Amino acid sequence: MTATSVNDRIVAAPGATCDADLADGPWIFDLVPGYGPGSSENDAIPDPVTRPGQLPVAYQKMPDDELHARIRAARDTLGNSVVILGHYYQRDEVVQYADFVGDSFQLANAALTRPEAETIVFCGVHFMAETADILARPEQHVILPNLAAGCSMADMADEDSVEAAWDQLMQVYADEDSGGKQAVVPVTYMNSSAALKAFCGRNGGIVCTSSNAATVLEWAFERGRRVLFFPDQHLGRNTAKAMGIPLEQIPMINARKPGLGVDEHVLRDAKVLLWPGFCSVHKRFTVDQIDQARSQYPGVKVIVHPECPMPVVDAADASGSTEKIRKFVEASQAGDVIAIGTEINMVNRLAAQYPDRTIFCLDPVICPCSTMYRIHPGYLAWTLEGLVAGEVRNEIVVPDDVARDAKVALERMLKAVPR
Ligand code: 13P
Ligand code: SF4
Repeated sequence: MTATSVNDRIVAAPGATCDADLADGPWIFDLVPGYGPGSSENDAIPDPVTRPGQLPVAYQKMPDDELHARIRAARDTLGNSVVILGHYYQRDEVVQYADFVGDSFQLANAALTRPEAETIVFCGVHFMAETADILARPEQHVILPNLAAGCSMADMADEDSVEAAWDQLMQVYADEDSGGKQAVVPVTYMNSSAALKAFCGRNGGIVCTSSNAATVLEWAFERGRRVLFFPDQHLGRNTAKAMGIPLEQIPMINARKPGLGVDEHVLRDAKVLLWPGFCSVHKRFTVDQIDQARSQYPGVKVIVHPECPMPVVDAADASGSTEKIRKFVEASQAGDVIAIGTEINMVNRLAAQYPDRTIFCLDPVICPCSTMYRIHPGYLAWTLEGLVAGEVRNEIVVPDDVARDAKVALERMLKAVPR
């Protein structure tokens, strides 16, 4: 645990955060529609988004000491029958119990490394738990401690809209001489529903994470003339641009507009068609923040996540997945100054782990991923104690037909090892 966790900082000074309601227990928002405090104020919220969770009042009111004692006791009783996975963005109070901490790619692999565990408790968000369920043995259970821990970006692409856009694209490219390749290869970011991963599996497509997006795009271009990339426009644009694809061949489509909102000749020339999704956390980072960091700390090294907008990635010294960011810090020297453009829990933890360096978040306002933040120790205690009592609470079950097709796309992804 870090000296001062993000949660402690929020509780101590709610006014210094992007939303003072973050200081409340997340259970208050479980049944409220929308993403809750901390998500970008102006985000349009697609429907349906919430997956209501609930936490018994006794756990909501339990003092922290008791919660932690109960988590440790349940963990000891359960032994190797349970494995806890934690994403880097989880709060310290939860991530301290994880057997594996990592980025989305690592955690998808971690789910495979403990086949003997009866239950995988995923301290992350909904799409990560779905992925674990798809990759796990059929007998293994996957638990998401708070079912309201979704991902606003993942919810920006729904199956019906992607199918509708796909049908339109197939009409546009119907008369094209494909040269033995698919006209379009669908590529979904890991941050998407199981249904969209299944769509990719059925249509010769693949899943990518932020760590292997370039390898995945190369895979796709070996098989197709172009790519439909969803939901994150920024990861798609940043990756395609870094591969040397000109911006005019990376247009953004809009499934709600006639002709997808783009001239037909643009669709025909396109190499990567982007979906207009984005992450509320990463869109907060700006070039101004980088300029400010450079003027305050000459020689500062800036690294950002590729979910940041393109001008921010271009202005940074490096970009990469959460694991790449962790390695970047690990490889730095005592005395270095590093400004990071990613979620605050991870940045705060790195700063505490490397006290001989100056490490800070580019965004001066404390604004965690509001959905990751929905996993509070109360939910972990409640779900683990459920297992001790023989009850699987908040289980994530992907229907068999969806899981079968999604697994095809995920297994292709797992072979696309990050560079
Ligand atoms: P990583 O794959 O880099 O862990 O990213 C996951 C995510 O949701 C970032 O917002
Ligand atoms: Fe989704 Fe953004 Fe949170 Fe990642 S940081 S889980 S993309 S909302």
